[in-house]
Amino acid sequence: MLPLLTMGFPTIRPRRLRATPELRALVRETTLDARDFVYPMFFNAAIDAPRPIGSMPGIDQLPLSAARAQAKAIKERGVGSVILFGLPKTKDDRGTSGLDPDGPVPRAIAEMKSAVPELVVMADVCVDEYTEHGHCGVLRKRADGTMEVDNDATVEILAKMGVVFAKAGADVVAPSDMMDGRVAAMRAALDAEGFTSTTLLSYAVKYASSFYGPFREAADCAPKFGDRAGYQMDPANAREAIREAALDEAEGADMLMVKPALSYLDVIRDVRKASNLPLGAYNVSGEYSMLHAAADRGMIDRDRAILEVLTSIRRAGADFILTYHALRAAELLG
Ligand code: PBG
Repeated sequence: MLPLLTMGFPTIRPRRLRATPELRALVRETTLDARDFVYPMFFNAAIDAPRPIGSMPGIDQLPLSAARAQAKAIKERGVGSVILFGLPKTKDDRGTSGLDPDGPVPRAIAEMKSAVPELVVMADVCVDEYTEHGHCGVLRKRADGTMEVDNDATVEILAKMGVVFAKAGADVVAPSDMMDGRVAAMRAALDAEGFTSTTLLSYAVKYASSFYGPFREAADCAPKFGDRAGYQMDPANAREAIREAALDEAEGADMLMVKPALSYLDVIRDVRKASNLPLGAYNVSGEYSMLHAAADRGMIDRDRAILEVLTSIRRAGADFILTYHALRAAELLG
């Protein structure tokens, strides 16, 4: 038994350590730093001016002409990383426009890297933004006539997409599709093209979540039929997260991610303990929008809630956080 437990009140008084801001700072276990935030951005090839995303206050779809100024403004706020999503001019059933070197993501990567070379530019790799049907892969008919996403055919496309983004200058490519084997295939494709230093961040543990709702408006990628439960994880499963993380680590992922964050803090903690790779967590669109909706109605203090949410994700074990709150949080942290 620890000696601490043999004593109690009135000798032991935990409140002593909470008496002043300085004492609280001294014993604080978890810190937030703007350099640990990754700011997600949506580049739309078909617009000339920022277009507000109705369900995500403060977040816009951006024209490519805004990329350079955005990169500088983000850097000035002290945020060191961004992750880019694209809205292309055309879509088809295989997501072909996602492989276009002149597509919105490759162009935004090039612009942002040339404006601010030290900015860490990540690119989300998935076909859902580029397919008409909105699924994260190419479809095929099962024997019973229902449709499913064809894993292996999709992996081939994803590996090519990773190379397109690496060629444009992405520091990090981040597959978010949840196909089996895509990490190994993407690593091999990158290495074969000489992109041995391009970093691979795997959305290793991604749940089929209701909290992606606003993103599907932001990136115009809601599935036209069915849902993503045939490839994204069941929210009921935690052991499976360890398995997914271990597989992606073995396939050569440099960093892992858990997504969403807030309903999955236990999973972040589990993966943190199971792997020594750097771990990110995605504080997703629905989590962002809910906080703003509650704040707009006066139910919670917006800024305190932002910092509390981000602190809780770090406390659970995430090294870095993909979050739409990045710029405001950086401002609050001064
Ligand atoms: C898929 C992708 C999604 C998100 C990031 N990448 C949507 C989905 O899986 O349906 C969601 C991010 C968010 O909700 O903020 N390319």
